[in-house]
Amino acid sequence: MGFMRWDFVVLVLVLLILSVAAEFCYGGRTSSFVRTANLSLDMPVDSDVFLVPPGYNAPQQVHITQGDHVGKGVLVSWVTPDEPGSNTVIYWAENNTTLKKQADGIVLTYNYFNYTSGYIHHCTIKGLEFDTKYYYEVGIGNTTRQFWFVTPPEVGPDVPYTFGLIGDLGQTYDSNRTLTHYELNPAKGKTMLFVGDLSYADDYPFHDNTRWDTWGRFTERNAAYQPWIWTAGNHELDFDPDIGESIPFKPYENRYHVPYEASYSTSPFWYSIKRASAYIIVMSSYSAYGKYTPQYKWLLNEFPKVNRTETPWLIVLMHSPLYNSYVNHYMEGETMRVMYESWFVEYKVDVVFAGHVHAYERSERVSNVAYNIVNGLCTPINDYSAPVYITIGDGGNFEGLATEMTEPQPSYSAYREASFGHGILDIKNRTHAYFSWHRNQDGFAVEADSVWLLNRYWNSLEESSVAAL
Ligand SMILES: *[C@@H]1O[C@H](CO)[C@@H](O)[C@H](O)[C@H]1NC(C)=O
Ligand SMILES: *[C@@H]1O[C@H](CO)[C@@H](O)[C@H](O)[C@H]1NC(C)=O
Ligand SMILES: *[C@@H]1O[C@H](CO)[C@@H](O)[C@H](O)[C@H]1NC(C)=O
Ligand SMILES: *[C@@H]1O[C@H](CO)[C@@H](O)[C@H](O)[C@H]1NC(C)=O
Ligand SMILES: *[C@@H]1O[C@H](CO)[C@@H](O)[C@H](O)[C@H]1NC(C)=O
Ligand SMILES: *[C@@H]1O[C@H](CO)[C@@H](O)[C@H](O)[C@H]1NC(C)=O
Ligand SMILES: *[C@@H]1O[C@H](CO)[C@@H](O)[C@H](O)[C@H]1NC(C)=O
Ligand SMILES: *[C@@H]1O[C@H](CO)[C@@H](O)[C@H](O)[C@H]1NC(C)=O
Repeated sequence: MGFMRWDFVVLVLVLLILSVAAEFCYGGRTSSFVRTANLSLDMPVDSDVFLVPPGYNAPQQVHITQGDHVGKGVLVSWVTPDEPGSNTVIYWAENNTTLKKQADGIVLTYNYFNYTSGYIHHCTIKGLEFDTKYYYEVGIGNTTRQFWFVTPPEVGPDVPYTFGLIGDLGQTYDSNRTLTHYELNPAKGKTMLFVGDLSYADDYPFHDNTRWDTWGRFTERNAAYQPWIWTAGNHELDFDPDIGESIPFKPYENRYHVPYEASYSTSPFWYSIKRASAYIIVMSSYSAYGKYTPQYKWLLNEFPKVNRTETPWLIVLMHSPLYNSYVNHYMEGETMRVMYESWFVEYKVDVVFAGHVHAYERSERVSNVAYNIVNGLCTPINDYSAPVYITIGDGGNFEGLATEMTEPQPSYSAYREASFGHGILDIKNRTHAYFSWHRNQDGFAVEADSVWLLNRYWNSLEESSVAAL
């Protein structure tokens, strides 16, 4: 009898613990951090960040991105306002100033409604040494401006590398805070993974394209010195047949060139690069991606190509998130999830970064790929082959924050908070990477959320969140 009673007590205790645990596991954390609800204002056009560099035909809006598939190339872009000027980039390695080389590029212009662009130059420098600092000059012949960049280390499995993450940046005072925090973060991001929505010029009357120019001048202070890896967002569409503009992505496509041909893509909106120990696949939420489309066919060939012995870290960038528990843009990524989530699981993608929602959210490793219309299996489940989904559309644009969340917090959502900020992905070696998210209200180095990511190919163990403040 005595034993029976003890059994009963134990059973009750176990049930209690289980129910508490179940409650605990129901959702992740919704941060209690409250920021002011003020919309952020765009910085006025005469702000310091938008200053036109002095001098006749001085190059402005200088930005670089990776120029080939492995990181030995750099694509340099800039705008000259008065005349086409020179298409040449002069460059030299820091340790050998006597050996100056040059590369020649192209120049183009475009019209949008009643706006005519400046002379937009694109020049790819190839055959650089890995892991080397180079200086470069543009504006040869008239006002010459000098910048520098550091090439990545050679592609390989245990090469540490640090990426920054920003999305939906815009050009408000908050955008400037986000960029400043990224620049001052002691983690020192070396390459920016930008998840779409750049200037928000389309929010202005007639898509005022001078706001593309101000954005280019604002971001030059970072994007001229480290590559920004571009993803197209909905604010890049600039699709407005009412004013005669029916070619999607016209300003973006002319201004932000990417090395898509190096990955045998047929479009600048989806492509891949290798950088250090990472293989980065950029997808387009706003180009056709159904079965048989060009993007689908490219991705079909692309995922099997990734050699995780060479590049252990498989990262996907897109604009519209597949897992999002905010009310804003809720389920907008669903059609793409239905199309591609099973591949992310099959090919063990480590992490998928997206923007679009003006807030931060990190998922558990979950998948939802068992559903077949009739079996009713349509709930996300824990899946250690699945990526972590991180939404980082909190760059600070003037549409403001997405504060309204679906309730209760779904179990797949590990952490969510509506604050502006940036992310750092610090790859340590083939098994370990550390992701941290830094809200703008804290010091540059403070982590509001962070997680050790264990590589899905080299390590199938579960991770645990750390240092959630
Ligand atoms: C908006 O910002 C102003 C100036 O910083 C401040 O006085 C005001 O309290 C803020 N409003 C809200 C709702 O936070
Ligand atoms: C300059 O750096 C490159 C790349 O690291 C190296 O191959 C070369 O030997 C260096 N040259 C000198 C003069 O140090
Ligand atoms: C710079 O490189 C050139 C060509 O490789 C070489 O001839 C020259 O000696 C180098 N200069 C220095 C200072 O190493
Ligand atoms: C373009 O048209 C708008 C609306 O009529 C006008 O406000 C703007 O000044 C025009 N811009 C140029 C460059 O003509
Ligand atoms: C700009 O450079 C071109 C080519 O070197 C030269 O012919 C022209 O005189 C320069 N213009 C000015 C205003 O310096
Ligand atoms: C933008 O931030 C920089 C610091 O990184 C500062 O020097 C500049 O004054 C800021 N500009 C505006 C308009 O906030
Ligand atoms: C994958 O990469 C490793 C390391 O670079 C190489 O040894 C191996 O041959 C590659 N495998 C394939 C199938 O290309
Ligand atoms: C990989 O990095 C992690 C985190 O820094 C470290 O704990 C681990 O020992 C490293 N693995 C190897 C093989 O160096």
